[in-house]
Amino acid sequence: MSASGPVPTTSPAAGRAVFASPFQRLNDLVAGIQPGKPPIVMAVGEPRHPVPGFVGPVLAGEIDGFGRYPAIKGTDAFRAAVAGWLGRRYGIEGRIDPATMVLPLNGSREGLFFAALEARMSTAKSVPNPAILVPNPFYQAYAAGCVAAGCEPVLVAAGAATGFLPDPDALDPALLARTVAMFFASPANPQGAVVSREGWQSLIELARRHDFVLLADECYSEIYRDRPPAGVLEAAAAMDGGFDRVVAFNSLSKRSNLPGLRCGFAAGDPAFLQRWAAFRNMAAPQVPNPVQAVAVAALADEVHVIENRRLYNAKYEAAERILGPRFGAVTPPGGFFLWLDVGHLAADGRDGGENAALALWREAGVRTVPGGYLAAAGPDGRNPGADFLRVAMVDDLALTEEGLRRIAAVLAPPGHPSE
Ligand SMILES: Cc1ncc(COP(=O)(O)O)c(C=O)c1O
Repeated sequence: MSASGPVPTTSPAAGRAVFASPFQRLNDLVAGIQPGKPPIVMAVGEPRHPVPGFVGPVLAGEIDGFGRYPAIKGTDAFRAAVAGWLGRRYGIEGRIDPATMVLPLNGSREGLFFAALEARMSTAKSVPNPAILVPNPFYQAYAAGCVAAGCEPVLVAAGAATGFLPDPDALDPALLARTVAMFFASPANPQGAVVSREGWQSLIELARRHDFVLLADECYSEIYRDRPPAGVLEAAAAMDGGFDRVVAFNSLSKRSNLPGLRCGFAAGDPAFLQRWAAFRNMAAPQVPNPVQAVAVAALADEVHVIENRRLYNAKYEAAERILGPRFGAVTPPGGFFLWLDVGHLAADGRDGGENAALALWREAGVRTVPGGYLAAAGPDGRNPGADFLRVAMVDDLALTEEGLRRIAAVLAPPGHPSE
């Protein structure tokens, strides 16, 4: 069972303090320290594999589309492409109605943020202190959404004790009674853990039993080692109850190396999505029509996605070779991060992740993120990321190998306690 419970963030100001940007905190940590070698940035989860070749020609052919305001519901072609891709990917052909069950997003980040607002506005629960469950560690947009929606972000530990995923069985019924939404990421960032189809089904049952919406962040769904992670929509399709209270979020950022395109989608519960579309129509960013045309082309092509996975998997092989098991398990089932256990480096009032990030920057010019900055202290006072270091393997193989060699040299020289 994992620890779970409220963190002291009932006001937006308090929320801002607790959920400060990890990258700002990292800047503060290394401020004034010169990198020991020419920098290698392994901090930000920004894919840097090549942009697929078809993107330029498609954009050029659709250029006139920039002369029109796009509809919040997207183009028919976009929604059909998403429904078709979901059908093929998850074996649920014909189950996703493109007219009512798909919405374009300006990247999944804004969708995850705005979805918290919709969950708060459309809940039937009249509770004075609505809660949204957030995995811990967490992607910052979840917490930002909770704070903006006036909901308490309740952190649910996702550390080693629970297989790096939140344990829904650990949740207190009193908490579930005031829960309006739950964020759940699979593959998880930063841990790379994936939930099984049965795991998704337990979460869906929980959401329906306690009347909250399950916001499933699947933006790393196509970055996996050998087995495609199960999806929340395929899990729902295999149950009774259609897609009630289930919304999946995905984007082209990771799948197609297009983080700058800003194109993603939400799919699932038609009632939620239709209400949300009406709200989004007044406030949320639309997706330009030429960008949607690129997405149509990208979703029709798996060749570049297979190549993308090959490139990431080669980097995990390098990490196994260079780092070995000295920092715990190296290769997670999904994502493109290493989540290294550096707890033995805690000293001088700083946790292991901070000391590792500092040493790597100072001695080797390698920029990484202390795991504690991607999480927050739970009710037990423990930060489940504190013992960890996140390393993003987003550059090409040669630069990644150089970064990994520097990490090994600094954190695990011969005779080091981690040996
Ligand atoms: C867990 C997770 N969810 C969502 C996103 C948002 O990605 P995008 O807005 O590019 O789709 C990211 C980006 O890094 C992420 O790591």
